[in-house]
Amino acid sequence: MTARAAEQSKARILAIETSCDETAAAVVDGGLRVISSVVSSQVDLHARYGGVVPELASRAHIEQIVPVVTLALEGAGLDGAGHPLTGQGVGGPPTGGPGPPEPAETRRIDAVAATVGPGLVGALLVGISFAKALAMGWEVPFVAVNHLEGHLYASLLEDPGLELPVVVLLVSGGHTMLIRMDAPGDYRVLGRTRDDAAGEAFDKVARYLGLGYPGGPAIDRVAASGDPGTVKFPRAWLDGSADFSFSGLKTAVVNQVTAEPALATADVAASFQEAVVDVLVHKTLAAAAEAGAGGICLAGGVGANSLLRERLRAAGAAAGLPVYLPSRAMCTDNAAMIAAAAYHRLGRDGPSSWGTGATPGMGLGSPR
Ligand code: KG4
Ligand code: ZN
Repeated sequence: MTARAAEQSKARILAIETSCDETAAAVVDGGLRVISSVVSSQVDLHARYGGVVPELASRAHIEQIVPVVTLALEGAGLDGAGHPLTGQGVGGPPTGGPGPPEPAETRRIDAVAATVGPGLVGALLVGISFAKALAMGWEVPFVAVNHLEGHLYASLLEDPGLELPVVVLLVSGGHTMLIRMDAPGDYRVLGRTRDDAAGEAFDKVARYLGLGYPGGPAIDRVAASGDPGTVKFPRAWLDGSADFSFSGLKTAVVNQVTAEPALATADVAASFQEAVVDVLVHKTLAAAAEAGAGGICLAGGVGANSLLRERLRAAGAAAGLPVYLPSRAMCTDNAAMIAAAAYHRLGRDGPSSWGTGATPGMGLGSPR
C-alpha cells in the first residue's frame, strides 16, 4: 500500500449536512466506518406550515449546528475544538507512515465536508460556512459534497460487500431518479421525474387528505389500515423511457375525493401509495435489466416507505437480483452518507476550493 493509499484508507472525515430541514453531523472513518452520526430534525418547527419554510430552516440550522457538531465530535472521542477528550496521545492528521495505528479515541479529524447543493441556499450556507471555518482552524482540507451523491452512498455504507454496477432508485422530497452507478464517482442518470418528485407527491397528497407533514410517513402509517384496491389510480408508465411523472396522480386523487367524498382516507392513501410504488418498482426493474446491473439500491427519504421496501425486495428476488435496502435512518437525510461521498471525492479530486459556495440547483454530475 502506498503512503497516500494508507492515508486515504484511514481518513477520518467530519461531515455536515444542512441542505433542507435536518441539521446533521457525522464522523466516518475510511468512508465506511460510522463512528458517530447525529441528526436534529426540524419537522415540528415546519409542521404547522405544512412544509419547509426556508427562513425558519436557516435560523434553526444556526441554532442547532454547534450542539449537533459537538455531539458528533464527542461521539468520536473529541471535544468541540477537535481535541481528544481523553487528553492523551494527541495526533494530527495521519501521515500514513509506518508504525501502529493510532487508537481510535485519540485520532483527530483529517478533513471537514459539507453539502453544497442541491438545497435551500440559506440552509446550505450555514453548514458550508461552519465546515470551512472548522477546516481552516484545524488546517485540514474542506470537501464540497453533492447531496444527491451522498444519498447514493447510503447502501455502500451499510453493505460494504455490495457489488457494482448497480441501478439506484433515488427517491426523495425533491428528486426521483434512476442512476446507474459503475464505481464511486462514476454515474449515469437513466431517468428522472418530469414533474413532481415521488416524495413531493406523498407530501402534497397527505396535505390534501389532512394527514399533516411530512406526508410520506403519514401516508405510510395510514395506508397500513386501508384497502389498496379501492381506487385504481392511473399510472404514468412513459413507455420506452426511464422517466417518471407523478403530477397527474396527485390530480387524480383530488378529482376522486371530490367526486366521492365518502371514501375512507385510509383507502385513498393506500390506493395512492400502491400506484406510486407500482410504477417505481416496475420501472426500476426494467432499468436494471436494460443496464445489465448486478443489483438494485434504494436511496432517499421515500426509501423509508414500507410498501416500497417490501415490493422492491420481492421483485428483486423474483428477478434474481440482490436488492440493497439501507436502514430507514440512512435513507432519510443524514451526514454519514455525506462523509462517505466526501471520502471518495477527496481521494479522486483532492480538497475543494475555499471559494466553493452553495449551489441550490446542483444536479448529479454538476461541476463543483
Ligand atoms: O431524502 P429526504 O430525507 O430529503 C430530501 O432530500 O428531500 O426525503 C424527504 C422525503 C419527504 O418527501 C418525505 O415525505 C419522504 O421523503 N418520506 C417518505 C417516508 N419517509 C419519508 N415517503 C414515503 N414513505 C415514508 N415512510
Ligand atoms: Zn435528501
